Amino acid sequence: MASIIIGTGSKIPEKVIHNKDLERFVNTSDEWIRTRTGIVERHIAGEGETNSGLATEAARRALEMAGLSPEEIDLVIVATLTPDMQMPSVACLVQNALGAKNAGAFDLSATCSGFLYGLTIADQFIRHKPSQKILVIGSEVLSKRVNWQDRSTCVLFGDGAGAVVLTGTSEDRGIVSTHLHADGSLWELLNIKGLGTKYPVTPEILEKGYQFIEMNGREVFKHAVRALESVTMEALEGAGWRGEEIDLFVPHQANMRIIEHLRNRLGLSREKVFINIDKYGNTSAASIPIALDEANRAGLLEPGSKVLMVAFGGGFTWGSVAMKW
Ligand code: ACO
Repeated sequence: MASIIIGTGSKIPEKVIHNKDLERFVNTSDEWIRTRTGIVERHIAGEGETNSGLATEAARRALEMAGLSPEEIDLVIVATLTPDMQMPSVACLVQNALGAKNAGAFDLSATCSGFLYGLTIADQFIRHKPSQKILVIGSEVLSKRVNWQDRSTCVLFGDGAGAVVLTGTSEDRGIVSTHLHADGSLWELLNIKGLGTKYPVTPEILEKGYQFIEMNGREVFKHAVRALESVTMEALEGAGWRGEEIDLFVPHQANMRIIEHLRNRLGLSREKVFINIDKYGNTSAASIPIALDEANRAGLLEPGSKVLMVAFGGGFTWGSVAMKW
């Protein structure tokens, strides 16, 4: 028995901020952003648009593709670092909005690797009881946690949500291998320190900007390249695949230079690597499920296609999921 994806969906906010728009309020340039990151524009949640709202719409689209009603869902997992509220979880808000009244629901916090952590957890549930139907969602409103005066971070991130429905199959398809890793010793290189219980809301904490993403980009870059390369090789070994056998490589969309490095390492042609960082920037936990949905709806995935997903993010966390679509 293995876990297969039977539906995908995504929801991207309409409001677009182009690199050229950023030039107007921080000291940056379209050229710098494009060449250093591959990003051209990003979508930002508008008035009244919430993380749970985006997640719910992505989930509806995934359910529609799967041909399932919300009552048939057993579990809702939402990977996010930008929940609507501290409590309840985004997953509970989605469960209610969908009317998934037979489902359990929880959020998980593993930053950009969150969706792969979610797939790995769902896979364990399904191996235990293959008839289950599980929604795994990655959803972020990072625009509310970005300091729009800090050029080293504000150019990088965007908002959006992606969702998949998993269930069990006895066919020769589904999740083949998963690998999860973390290294909490390096947390200071990438974090949002404030508004938790260590640094609660006070004028001093807000003054320090602890409510915003802080990142030492150069250091994170080095660790990301090393960790992603290693987990990619580990995934190939786990799945028993050679690099060139991959039909679609779906990396977390954080930096085009990192993606290109991995593509070269795997010896893959450009068509075999899914890229949408130019349109959305880094949407953290949402980036891989949005990419999967776009690839799926573009007809790039057929039953049995060999798909390798890899991600790296704050924590640090990193991981991989290899699956035969
Ligand atoms: N516009 C113009 N110049 C800029 C900008 C900007 N937006 N941002 C930084 N610079 C300047 C810097 O000040 C620096 O100037 P200096 O040389 O005079 O000091 C110069 O550009 C180079 O800065 P670096 O930080 O060394 O640039 P780098 O080439 O490393 O690119 C980037 C920065 C894009 C952030 C890159 O380091 C990166 O992608 N890091 C990894 C991101 C990542 O993978 N994050 C993990 C997932 S995110 C998550 O978990 C939420």
